[in-house]
Amino acid sequence: MELHEVDVHSPDIWEQGVPHEALALLRKESPIHWHEEPGGRGYWVVTHYDHIVEISTNPKDFSSARGGSNIEDYEEEDLEPIRMLMVNMDPPQHWKFRKLVSRGFTPRMVRLMEQRISRDVDEILQRLPVGEPIDFVREVAADLPLRVICRLIGVPDEDLQIVFDYSNRLIGFDDPEFQTSVEDARIAAMEVFAYGNELVEAKADEISEDLIYHLCHSEVEEGAGLLTRAEFNAFFLLISVAGNETTRNAITGGLLALLENPEQIQLLREEPSLIDSATEEILRWVTPVNYFRRTVTRDLHFHGVDLKENDKVVMHYHAANRDPKLFPDPMTFDIRRRPNNHLAFGVGEHFCLGASLARMEIKVLFRELFKRFSSIETAGPQRRLRSNFINGVKELPVRFTR
Ligand code: HEM
Repeated sequence: MELHEVDVHSPDIWEQGVPHEALALLRKESPIHWHEEPGGRGYWVVTHYDHIVEISTNPKDFSSARGGSNIEDYEEEDLEPIRMLMVNMDPPQHWKFRKLVSRGFTPRMVRLMEQRISRDVDEILQRLPVGEPIDFVREVAADLPLRVICRLIGVPDEDLQIVFDYSNRLIGFDDPEFQTSVEDARIAAMEVFAYGNELVEAKADEISEDLIYHLCHSEVEEGAGLLTRAEFNAFFLLISVAGNETTRNAITGGLLALLENPEQIQLLREEPSLIDSATEEILRWVTPVNYFRRTVTRDLHFHGVDLKENDKVVMHYHAANRDPKLFPDPMTFDIRRRPNNHLAFGVGEHFCLGASLARMEIKVLFRELFKRFSSIETAGPQRRLRSNFINGVKELPVRFTR
């Protein structure tokens, strides 16, 4: 492959699999690379680990708010609601918001979640039929994060399906199976807002451990402040998308990696204490979010390239996570790998708020899965999501035996 042949934009390409060869070529020969964009104005693709760290830790020059964090450019009127999501905020607004919502993600909250996650994993695995093919995505990988997010927020069990449908419609914008237009995403967002309002209203008098209580009804610290209804709705929308699809694909991609490397499953069975490093390797290997975007706020010279104000910069995490300088033998899936400072959760200003929760879900699930079943095999071809943003699998038929 030559540089002029590289296409890391087309969702059709990502549907076939992560374009590792193209990304490695860019990292080696053109680490800050101009990429044409069908229907858009083009952007810089960044593939170097160190450059991604530099950009992510410098929100002053590389803004998340100016043009949002996805590649698409929006009209100013559409950017306004998008900037209500914290992932599309810059300091100082971002610091203020992050401080407010971080109260719901304290170590105490995450510890409390661990017991519930174990119970959820137990329920999910108990229900699985032995010897019959099932869709791992639907029955396991999608179900766990959905339950966890809904519990965290305070969504009642009977409404899980509603949140599941929203999150699919909000993120599957390039996949015709989920949605045909940006308009549908807009409608789905309005529905999430309406649902969020009802929920906060319904739980107004309830004292609980969920986010609705902590963020809307009770100040954990005196003077810490509460979220307005609109802020809560935007946050609800963000984490129901950010926490579902991503963790689902980490779990599905993790199982695929293990099935393709059965000696690693054996290793994990023999040394269960490897579960922590296995979780990190799954995250590195799968890298469920392909990229995040920033917008340049002033003309500047960056590692040999002249960036102009308002240029789009797109950070490709797969390229960083397979950088041989940081990860020896990067194309090998190795659950013993240490150190493993991957960028699957991003880095710097917007480092993933749900990272410890996602890690815990992956860890508890794989620990229990291999304890409970003596063998797991694929029972049909996987179907991948058509998206250049999420490294997703829509369907993975598997069969379990005890
Ligand atoms: C394996 C699962 C996950 C992956 C790979 C992932 C990935 C990411 C990445 C790459 C970012 C950085 C965005 C940027 O730099 O612009 C991010 C931010 C974020 N993630 Fe996650 N995420 C995961 C799970 C979760 C979960 C479970 C939640 C919620 C419970 C969550 C909530 C968020 C939020 C709120 C932000 C924005 C933080 C900010 O703007 O300060 N994520 N995530």
